[in-house]
Amino acid sequence: MKFQGKVILITGAARGVGKVISERFAQEGATLIINDIDLQEGEKVAQQINQKGFKAFVIKADVSKRIEVEAMICKAINTYGGIDILINNAAVFARSVPIVELEEEEWDRVININLKSVFNCCKAVIRHMIKRRSGRIINISSFTGKTGRVVYSTFGNPTKAHYCVSKAGIISLTKSLAFELAPYNINVNAVAPGSIATESTDEEKKKMIIPLVPVGRMGTPEDVAAAVLFLASSEASFITGEILDVNGGTLMD
Ligand SMILES: NC(=O)c1ccc[n+]([C@@H]2O[C@H](COP(=O)([O-])OP(=O)(O)OC[C@H]3O[C@@H](n4cnc5c(N)ncnc54)[C@H](O)[C@@H]3O)[C@@H](O)[C@H]2O)c1
Repeated sequence: MKFQGKVILITGAARGVGKVISERFAQEGATLIINDIDLQEGEKVAQQINQKGFKAFVIKADVSKRIEVEAMICKAINTYGGIDILINNAAVFARSVPIVELEEEEWDRVININLKSVFNCCKAVIRHMIKRRSGRIINISSFTGKTGRVVYSTFGNPTKAHYCVSKAGIISLTKSLAFELAPYNINVNAVAPGSIATESTDEEKKKMIIPLVPVGRMGTPEDVAAAVLFLASSEASFITGEILDVNGGTLMD
């Protein structure tokens, strides 16, 4: 039980990668605070975890909204005594649109949900972590944040620039925070997954992506969860400002 007694807040954990990260931490003894905008699905995840004898609670909030995030963090700290580990996982994927056709509203929507949310959650949690002189933050970035394109992009076609920019911003924010918060014993790292197959990945997409991955398969939410658990563990206490690739060799940098 590596995370016994730890309180972990994870955003966007009602499905996909966030759900599996929650389950893995719960199995290791942590108390999970599951955030999502989708309360119904979030409650199902918490229920499944609790039925196995582990601990999980749900707080609904739209992480792109500062007021909702502050209320969520306040409630979490008052109810569970503090937050040891924050995992910024919530995001929306973007439609492929040529940049000249990309509407300002769509740009803002993706940047606000994927990037501003990380600023909102970090800002609200860091105050408390500084007081305790202890904390871990793990941000979920992406291969796209390093390359400016999705894995299956082809020359001349849309790259989902707004999604890529949001994930690149997370990489930069991770490094800025890691530098600023190191004196307070707060480590800040990111994971950059390649293509991960979740319950919402269709067979056609898998067929398109697998030939582009050197190890010959798409990643799983468990692959991402393993990297997150490592960065949250005491074994990673000397690691901060790191962007850990979990991409089966798709990008080696
Ligand atoms: N799946 C992949 O191939 C892949 C690859 C690289 C990076 N990632 C990153 O991994 C993370 C998880 O991806 P996933 O595939 O599990 O996505 P997903 O769409 O399955 O899950 C995202 C969750 O975030 C929630 N969410 C969306 N907007 C929200 C908001 N404003 N406030 C709170 N919750 C909100 C959704 O309701 C959903 O439950 C994301 O950050 C994603 O960008 C995924």
